[in-house]
Formats: sequence, C-alpha cells, structure tokens
Amino acid sequence: MKFAILGSGTGSNAEAILSEWKAGRLGRAVPVLIVSDRPEARILTLGERFGIPARFLSPGPFKTKMSDDAEDDYARTIRESGADFVVLAGFMRVIHDRFLSAFPGRIINLHPSLLPSFPGLHSIEQAFRHGVKITGCTVHSVTPGLDCGPILGQEAVRIEEGDTLESLEAKVHAAEHRLLPAVIRLLAEKDAAAQQSAAQPVQGS
Ligand code: GAR
Repeated sequence: MKFAILGSGTGSNAEAILSEWKAGRLGRAVPVLIVSDRPEARILTLGERFGIPARFLSPGPFKTKMSDDAEDDYARTIRESGADFVVLAGFMRVIHDRFLSAFPGRIINLHPSLLPSFPGLHSIEQAFRHGVKITGCTVHSVTPGLDCGPILGQEAVRIEEGDTLESLEAKVHAAEHRLLPAVIRLLAEKDAAAQQSAAQPVQGS
C-alpha cells in the first residue's frame, strides 16, 4: 500500500511513521510523498531526511478549506506519486467531496482526543479544561463532516493528578506516535489480503 502523508505543521507524527518505515516496521505500507499546505511547515523538511519527495501545494485562497482547483491538484499530485492511500497527520483543513471521491474510503485522519468527544480544534486543551479523567487519540476514516468518520483505532491516555496541559499534550502526542503507524501497518495488511483474495480463482463446486 503506497501512501501520501499530508500535514500542516511540525510533522512529529509523519516523523514517527517514517521512522517506523525506515526501521522496517511498517509492513506492507510504503510512504511515497509528503504534502503540506504551508510552505514553511517543518513536515516538509522530513522529505530530504527520509529520502521521500516533499511538496508544498497551494490550498487556494481560503483559511480552513481548499478550493475545488486545489483539491483537484492535491488528488492529481498524489495519484502521480503512485499513492492510492492518504494519511492526514496534522493536516488542518477540512476536506470536501472532490478530494474524498478521488480516494474513496482511503483517507484516514489522526485526531488528538477520544472521538466522538472533543472534535474540532484544541482538543487536548478542551479535554483538560473539561476535567475528564481519560482522553487519548483516534485514527478514523475521513467522511464528509468534521472528525466523524468510522473509528479505526484509539489509544487512551489517563489524566493524572498533577498533570498540566503541557504534560498532557506530551502524553497524547506519545500515544499518537504509537497509534498512527500501528493503524497504517494494519490497514496495509488488510489491503494486501483483500487484493490476494480478489486475485484467487473462485473454486468450482
Ligand atoms: C496532532 O496532535 C494531530 O492529532 C493534530 O495535529 C497534531 C499534529 O502534530 N490534528 C488535529 O488536531 C486534526 N484535527 P504533528 O504535526 O507534530 O504531527
């Protein structure tokens, strides 16, 4: 399963994925492209470090979404890289139908809370201020709508007495760095199994 990683910022999750891949622990999943909607994003520097093409692609004039032309451009560039699967790792724009339909059921997103709790922005802070005792992170399939697609994996994080927002952020990020590569590895295995069974001749009776 060849996949592209999309991110808008630091790229610590992309780094976790790429480190697992370099260490030979990503199974049948192969990263082939990094894309960012922000030219200065640190995530783009990972390309050179891990030997993968990394590109800024303009998202268009909007703040929180991409223009139709930009969605087409993203889809075309990802396809041309050979990827047919997309991992949103800190990509801070809402994705719409044009892009979703280019990779039906094959776009996943990482979110820093136990969805369906605390969707949207600043989710770790929302959980901390709310006083929940357990939060965590989620990987879900992307569908139209905000942070609401089918859940593929979650890791819980306990909020302990004495935790600060900063210590909680560090714990959630550590959980994300474990969860996202694990889900990608699993999905690639399922993908390979599905392809193999589709290629098997049907047994006659
Ligand atoms: C991660 O915590 C991810 O869950 C979050 O952005 C961060 C990216 O960090 N994504 C969202 O909030 C999406 N709604 P990174 O750039 O260091 O990987």
